[in-house]
Formats: sequence, structure tokens, C-alpha cells
Amino acid sequence: MSNELAAVAYLVAAVLFILGLKRLGSPATARNGNRLASIGMLVAVVVALVDQGILDYVWVAVGLVVGAAIGAILARRVEMTGMPELVAVFNGLGGGASALVAASSFLGGDPDGVVTLLTLSLSVLIGGVTFTGSLVAYGKLAGRIPGRPVNFPGQVVFDGLLGMVAIGSVAWFTATGDDIGLWVLAGVALVLGLTRVLPIGGGDMPVVIAFLNSLSGIAASMAGFALESAVLIIAGALVGASGLILTMIMVKAMNRTLIGVLAGGFGDGDGGGSGPIGDKPVRQGTAEDLGVVLAYAQSVVVVPGYGLAVAQAQHALRDLANELADRGVDVRYAIHPVAGRMPGHMNVLLAEADVPYDQLYDLEDINPDLPRTDVALVVGANDVVNPAAREDASSPIYGMPILDVDYATTTIVIKRSLSPGFAGIDNPLFYEDGTYMFFADAKAALEDLSREVKEA
Ligand code: TAP
Repeated sequence: MSNELAAVAYLVAAVLFILGLKRLGSPATARNGNRLASIGMLVAVVVALVDQGILDYVWVAVGLVVGAAIGAILARRVEMTGMPELVAVFNGLGGGASALVAASSFLGGDPDGVVTLLTLSLSVLIGGVTFTGSLVAYGKLAGRIPGRPVNFPGQVVFDGLLGMVAIGSVAWFTATGDDIGLWVLAGVALVLGLTRVLPIGGGDMPVVIAFLNSLSGIAASMAGFALESAVLIIAGALVGASGLILTMIMVKAMNRTLIGVLAGGFGDGDGGGSGPIGDKPVRQGTAEDLGVVLAYAQSVVVVPGYGLAVAQAQHALRDLANELADRGVDVRYAIHPVAGRMPGHMNVLLAEADVPYDQLYDLEDINPDLPRTDVALVVGANDVVNPAAREDASSPIYGMPILDVDYATTTIVIKRSLSPGFAGIDNPLFYEDGTYMFFADAKAALEDLSREVKEA
């Protein structure tokens, strides 16, 4: 294949990546975006194989078959709630692969030049940190290692020293091209990934995973510079930038800072609450009363949260919404950007139950309507509807944007107890006059409500 043809094909692949990414911006076009980006990747892979001829095709075929088989099995087996763990593993492998590609390009081809050696060493450093950091993130999410922040005495000093050795190794390798620098760098990077992610609480892992995703892209981009591969530079930069944007959206929606999350210590487990907090009286409703309230409402705004995912109650929720819509009730869904435990968690759950996209509203679009809403139905959500974030300057979540469900005429909260959510704090919403608590598993509660609405 001529160089010009390869360059044009890589350009086409890059354009497909960009278009694919753009289309991922809306649920309605996301599938198509995914398809476009996949085609782009196929073009890039085929051109790389034909153009470079760097590998024995037998090995390429073996890798392809083994990789595709593992991918297909995982895609079928992994539950939606296990997706963050899977993404963590993918990020780790991506970072590790970039580091290996960069290192092998040096060991196999002996490249020189300051830019090549610098980007190559940065790829090894960032890729190595991403590899072990992602494995720890996976372990915490999957419950294979403790979710609580894990620290040891002198950790900050130790990490500081490792950081200095890493910078020194990058400088040494860039200046001399001595492979000792590269080996030291690889070892330091692998240890740094462990010691930087272990002190972060399990509940913060989704943010860490988005950040590691960004790092895996930067590692690939650096490898692209070292290999002089434009398509790798572009694809890596897109992953790096979009991962960072996602990270910033998440930390902003939680009113945290990236530095604060990475410094660790917040959340002492998986972010789930333990026992009940407080002993103030709450108003409880039964399925009969609340079924009537819903059936005779004109407008209902549903707020799904983490508990909806735990209970796998998305289909029961859709059935209730259909029942209400059949009676002429206007049903909409309010989606908080960090509801659940991963970006887009609620969108994915509701899409699984065929809830139409046009019934999903972002926080800033639905909040102005909540004071005119008859019923806000909160299903397994807690922190994202906590008015303390708006009113209590001493609250740890003060300043986090919330869905103003307490402004609706009536608020119904479905959860199993008064236990706190991820942030581990009490929620004044539960004790307000207009709030009815329905203590039950979300799925059972929604099924009971559907039955009562039908009979009302
Ligand atoms: P949370 O505040 O975590 O509350 C979820 C509630 O669901 C719990 O209070 C729990 O109460 C209830 N629940 C659990 N299982 C249930 C079941 N089977 N049936 C009914 N209810 C059940 O959830 P949220 O409002 O979605 O907020 C998300 C939190 O996670 C935020 O603090 C956010 O900052 C944090 N976070 C989010 C992300 C992303 S990207 N989404 C990433 C990291 C952290 P009971 O135990 O009483 O039932």
C-alpha cells in the first residue's frame, strides 16, 4: 500500500472516530456513533496490518481469535451493574498495551531523537500507572480488595520519592537513550499505580476509572508520537480529552475537586450506607394510599437512583409509568448526572426497559418544573435529592447541584430504610411534611404501586 493511500485511510479512520464521539452525545444517536467509531477502528487496524507488515500474520490471527473470543464472552456475561469493573480492566489493558508498544518500539528499533525518547518514556510511565491503577480500581469495585482507603505510614513521602525517581528516569532516558532508565521507569510506574489508587475509597472508583481512561488515551497518544503514527496520536488524544471531560463533569456534579478525589480518604467502603441515621418521625405511605395519589396526579416526575439499579427495578418502573400514562398522567424522568455509580447509569437502565429518550430530562431542564409538579417519585435515590446540599453550609455535599423534589406538591420516596446513600449523610427530605416514605425493595414497591394504580 502506498504511503499516500495509508495516510488517507488513517485520516478517514480519524474522522470516523470524531464523528462517532460526537454522536455519542445523545442517546438517540449513540448506537450509530458507536458503530461509526468501530468502523474507524477496523479501517485503522486493517491499514496498520497491510501497511506496516511488522508482525507475522499467524500471531496476529492468534491474537485476534483469542481476544475476540474473550471479548464476546465478557460482553455476554457481564451484567450492566458490572460495567464499571469491565471498563476498569479495559483501561488497564489499554494503558499496559501502550506502554508495551512504546517499549518494544525502542527495544526492537532503537529509535533516537529527543521527542521520540521523551514521548516513549512518558507512554511507559503513564501506561504503567494506568495498568496497575486500573487493576486496583477493578479489585475495589469487584470487592476483591478492601474498598476502604488503604494507607501505610509515610505513604505521601514514599509517593513523592517515587514521583521524583520517575521524573529523573524520564530525563535520564531522554538525554541518554540508556535502556536502564526505561526499566527503572517501568518499575516505578507500576508501583505508583498501586500506591496512588489504594488510598482512594471504593465509592470514588467511578471517578478514578474515568480519569484512568483519560490517562490510557494519553499513553496511547504518546506511543503514537514515538511511533510517528498519526492515527494513534489522534485516537489517543480523543480518549484522553473525552475521559478528562467526563471526569470533570463527575467531580463537578459531586461538588468535589479532582485533586480532592485523587488525594483519597473520602468514603470508607463501597459508598453504600449502613445503618439508619436519626430517629425523627417520618410519614409513611402504603401502596394503597400512594397508588391513589399517583393515579389522580396530573404530572409525575420520576427520580431514579442507585437503588433502582440494585433492585433491577427498571422494568417494574416502566410498567408503572405505562399504567399512569394510560390514565393520562404526564410522566417524565429526571436524570441527575451522578445518580447511580457510573456515568450514564440511569440512562442505560431506563434504555434497557425501553423508556423513550424524550421522557428523560437533565437536572437544569427539569428543576424549574418541579414546583409545578404534583408528585415527585424518588426510586432508590438519596444524595441526589438531598436538600442539605442546597441549604446546609455545614453539609459535606453542600453546593452539589440536586434535583429539587422537595418543591413538588407531594414527594414519594421508595427505599428500604432510612439508611444513608453514598455520601453517608442524613437526608432532611425524608422528614418534610410533603414527603411520604415507602419502605420496601424498589421492585416490589413499584409492582405494588402498579397494581394499586390499575385498581384506582
Ligand atoms: P445514593 O445516594 O447512593 O442512595 C441510594 C439509595 O438507594 C440508598 O439510600 C438505599 O437506601 C437505596 N437502595 C439500595 N438498594 C435498594 C433497593 N433494593 N430498593 C430500594 N432502594 C434501595 O444514590 P443516588 O441518589 O443515586 O446518588 C448517587 C451517589 O453516588 C451520589 O452521592 C454520587 O456523588 C455518588 N457517586 C456517583 C457516581 C456516578 S458517576 N454516578 C460516581 C461516584 C459516586 P436503603 O438502603 O434504605 O434502601
